[in-house]
Amino acid sequence: MTVLVAYYSRTNITKKVAEEIAEKLNADIEEINPKVNYKGKIGYVRGGKDAISEKIIDLEQIKHDPSSYDIVYLGAPVWAGKSANPMISYIKENEGKFNNVKFFATAGSSGFESTFEQMEKFVGKAPQKTLALTTKEVKKGEYSAKLESFLE
Ligand SMILES: Cc1cc2nc3c(=O)[nH]c(=O)nc-3n(C[C@H](O)[C@H](O)[C@H](O)COP(=O)(O)O)c2cc1C
Repeated sequence: MTVLVAYYSRTNITKKVAEEIAEKLNADIEEINPKVNYKGKIGYVRGGKDAISEKIIDLEQIKHDPSSYDIVYLGAPVWAGKSANPMISYIKENEGKFNNVKFFATAGSSGFESTFEQMEKFVGKAPQKTLALTTKEVKKGEYSAKLESFLE
């Protein structure tokens, strides 16, 4: 089975999970890079605004064609109860190219359900599984059981 892990991460929390998934599944990995600057305090405010308005933004060129994979794992941080804009922009840019999907998200504490619902709306397909992890769980590395069942 061919697997791609596509993720966006602003402060490397989601990145840590994405890299672990890719390593465990021997998958290709795609880091989604926005042309919009979401770094720092100004970027935080911009991210919140863009998330609420579900703004589609420009991305740097991607390396992998999602349609050539059996399954794509899509991962992003929760922003204002939504998926970070680089993720919905990536999905939109690759509309109709996802054969099967699983979603993973990280957040301080809340907004996972609405984030997964939004991702499903953009993909137009229900995920096989979802994985919700708090920033704290990721930092402490306390998610191996959840991760195992997500990867099954
Ligand atoms: C613009 C913005 C909005 C956020 N909104 C939420 C939120 O609604 N709920 C929450 O629990 N955490 C929220 N967070 C925290 C992030 O989801 C959390 O820190 C995440 O693990 C960061 O992942 P990353 O390092 O991969 O970017 C927000 C962070 C940013 C920058």
